[in-house]
Amino acid sequence: MYNFDKIADRTNVNSVKWEYEGILPMWVADMDFDTMPEIKEAIKKRCDMGAFGYTNTPDYFYEAFIDFWKRRHHVEFNKDWMIFSTGVVPAISSIVRKMTNVGDRILLMTPTYNIFYNSILNNYRSVAETELVYDGKEYKLDWKDFEARIINQTTMLILCNPQNPVGKIWTRGELERIVRICKENNVIILSDEIHADIVSPGHEYIPLLSIEDAKDISITTISASKCFNLAGLQGASLVIPNEDIRKKVNRGLNTDEVAEGNVFVYDAFTTALNLGDNWLNEMNRYVYENKRYLKTFLMVNLKELDYHYADSLYLAWIDVSKVTNDSVKLCNYLKDNFNVYFSNGKQYGKSFNGFIRINLATSLDNVKEGLNKLLIGIKKFKEDNL
Ligand SMILES: Cc1ncc(COP(=O)(O)O)c(C=O)c1O
Repeated sequence: MYNFDKIADRTNVNSVKWEYEGILPMWVADMDFDTMPEIKEAIKKRCDMGAFGYTNTPDYFYEAFIDFWKRRHHVEFNKDWMIFSTGVVPAISSIVRKMTNVGDRILLMTPTYNIFYNSILNNYRSVAETELVYDGKEYKLDWKDFEARIINQTTMLILCNPQNPVGKIWTRGELERIVRICKENNVIILSDEIHADIVSPGHEYIPLLSIEDAKDISITTISASKCFNLAGLQGASLVIPNEDIRKKVNRGLNTDEVAEGNVFVYDAFTTALNLGDNWLNEMNRYVYENKRYLKTFLMVNLKELDYHYADSLYLAWIDVSKVTNDSVKLCNYLKDNFNVYFSNGKQYGKSFNGFIRINLATSLDNVKEGLNKLLIGIKKFKEDNL
């Protein structure tokens, strides 16, 4: 049994999440849990070797991903399909540059991970958006809108599977239909599956590559960074079955210099993937309990907030539009006056300023503290008529 009530003290280690002194951080997608002890041991062991020169990507790194995805997600990757990158975001930006042209349209299903916008816009491509529709239970694609935007000069779709921030697990049927439409219209699918393993007990995500027809037209990004909280080690693997796409992407990653890892990332990730099943299962159970706590807390204390519960992610997507349509203002207000920081919804898509995202990958004590701050903060926000 691992102890998820124990959180690491990150106030003095230049943590992005904890950078605001005295503020309880429930924003950026980063966990507070103590790192799995076996990973810490692997890093110490590597450190004790005392040699920190340039490092090749070892075969055992790829093999750990292959075994893990086969064991947990029932899909087989060939080692030749895999390429290391120093992170999912560096890979996405590089792929956008290599596989699309300046001026191309790249489709996002919104709300979605804010940095996708940067990878597109910073490289002089334009964003096409299809908004997911909430049916009162879950988010779904508006297929008519999706197809209309695909047909209209789009060359790439960035799929987030499972979807950040709404936590949607795409169904097999949905993935098959997305693949069919993209194939018919020569659209490459870039499937970011970094959140694959943060899934409530009893549920599974479905890898895009379990759809046979996706193999010819897709690039999948996977990592141990999100589910084991190793993002600061900066690593990911791309899985690209199609040889032509793979060769191009490989060239792009190398010319962008994002294809070589540091000395710790390989052993840390390999250990996580090879030995981390129990830690992951327990972490997911703990996060699930935090989600249940949140749900009950809102039902009892803050009925005007609507939690769009989902079976994936340690992030909760909350509709605050009955309180305000300016979540940017609300989040800043709560940070400045009540010492708690949530993510505003606007950064995930222009129509979502009536939402906030709450990070629940922390101790239950912190969740309780954060929600109490939210409760009194919202009361005051309304009293102040902001
Ligand atoms: C969907 C998604 N992709 C990528 C990342 C970041 O990946 P990396 O740290 O490997 O660049 C995040 C981080 O929150 C994310 O939510």
